[in-house]
Amino acid sequence: MDLIIRRAVLPRGTGPHKTQNGSVDRASGHGTGVTAKAATLVDIGIEAGRIVAVEPHLAAVAAEEIDAAGSLVTPPFVDPHFHMDATLSYGLPRVNASGTLLEGIALWGELKPQLTQDALVERALQYCDWAVARGLLAIRSHVDISDGRLLAVEALLEVKRRVAPYLDLQLVAFPQDGLLRSPGAFDNLKRAIALGVDVVGGIPHFERTMADGAQSVRMLCEYAAEQGLRVDMHCDESDDPLSRHIETLAAETHRLGLHGRVAGSHLTSMHSMDNYYVSKLLPLMREAGVAAIANPLINITLQGRSDTYPKRRGMTRVPELMAAGITVAFGHDCVMDPWYSLGSGDMLEVAHMGLHVAQMTGVDAMHACFDAVTVNAAHILGLEGYGIAPGCEANCVVLDARDPVEAIRLRAARLAVVRRGKIVSRAPAARATLNLEGRPAEVDFRLHRG
Ligand code: FE2
Repeated sequence: MDLIIRRAVLPRGTGPHKTQNGSVDRASGHGTGVTAKAATLVDIGIEAGRIVAVEPHLAAVAAEEIDAAGSLVTPPFVDPHFHMDATLSYGLPRVNASGTLLEGIALWGELKPQLTQDALVERALQYCDWAVARGLLAIRSHVDISDGRLLAVEALLEVKRRVAPYLDLQLVAFPQDGLLRSPGAFDNLKRAIALGVDVVGGIPHFERTMADGAQSVRMLCEYAAEQGLRVDMHCDESDDPLSRHIETLAAETHRLGLHGRVAGSHLTSMHSMDNYYVSKLLPLMREAGVAAIANPLINITLQGRSDTYPKRRGMTRVPELMAAGITVAFGHDCVMDPWYSLGSGDMLEVAHMGLHVAQMTGVDAMHACFDAVTVNAAHILGLEGYGIAPGCEANCVVLDARDPVEAIRLRAARLAVVRRGKIVSRAPAARATLNLEGRPAEVDFRLHRG
C-alpha cells in the first residue's frame, strides 16, 4: 500500500459505524469528546489514490504511515457556496466602510473595471492554498458573468485547471447584476457555460420586479434542463418575507424533472416568512429535491440591517429544512472581499457560526452542522467517490480533535491533509506551554477526563 492512516476515528455515516438500517451506532462513542475513549479505531489503507481498506488493525504495511492516535479522520471539507472572483480583494479600491450588502455591491462595481486576469488568478490561487491547508478540497464558486469581457470567467477557468490536481473547483455562471436587469446577461451566461463553467446561477430577488424574478427562474431552469446542467441560484437573499422565488425554483425543478440537481443559496427571506406559508413550502422543496445552502457568516452580518430591535438573525430555517428531509449545507460565501472583511477558508468556522445562529446545540444537531460542511455539501456538488470507505477517492483530513463536535468547538488544526493518497499539507497541533507553578507545562484544549 502507498499510505496507511492508523488509529483513526471516523465521523458518523462515513464508514463502518453505520448500522444496517442506516442509523448510527451510538455505542461507538461519537459524542462530545468526553466519551471518545470508547470510539472504534480503524486503519485506513490507501493504494493508487483510492481507499482500499477501512478496518481495525490492518495487517498490511505501507510506504508511508500516519498515526492518527485516536484523532478524527474525516472526508475533506466542501464549500458549496463561494465567490472566488472577489476573494482577497479586501481594500481594493477601498474598504466597505458601512459593512453593508449594498455598499459591498457598489464597491464590487467600482472594482470590476480595474480587475485584471493575472491579479484574479493570483488571488484565487492564494485562496486555494489556504483552502488546502484547511482541508477544504472542493469548492463551488460563483463567477460574475455580468461583464461582457468574461474576464473573471476566463481567470477562474484557468484557476480550475491549475488547482485540479489538489482541489475540485466547480464554477457557477452568476448574473450578479440580474439576468433580465443587466443587458446581455443571458448571452454572457450561455457563453460562460460554453467556455466550461459547470452550473447555471441566478439572482431572482435582484430583478426589477417579483414577476421578472420568477421569469428569470423559469428561463434559467429551462436552459439548465436543455443543457443537462445543475442549477444553484442566489435566491431570496432578502429580509422581505414576500420574496418567494424559492417557490418558483421548486416548482420549475419539479416541472422540468431537475430533481436532485438544484440548490437555492441563502434563502434568508424564509427566516421572516409566515409560518403557515413555510409549512406548504418545505414539502414542495422536498418533493422537488431542491437543496438549501445557508451562508451563516455572511447572513448574520448582512441581514436585518434595517431592523431596529428585535433584530432578525437573517439565516434561513436550517433545522426545519433538515427535519423536512431537505439537504442543507453551509457555505463560506466570502473571504476578505467587498462584502466581508474576515475569514480564512476554515469551514469549521462556518459550521461554528451556523451552529450558533441556528441554535443547533443539541448533540445530533451539532453533528448535523459538521455534515453541512462535509457530506451534505459534497452531495450538492455531486462529488463522486467522496467518503471514507473502500472504493472512495483517498481524500481526507486528520483533525486535532476526537469527534466532529470537538472539531467545531476548537476549529481544530488540520494535522494532515491527504489528496488522492498524497499528503498535501501538514500542520502542528494547537498546544501552549505554560509557566505556572504547580500546573502541567503543556495546555491541550481537548477535554481529558480520568
Ligand atoms: Fe453568494
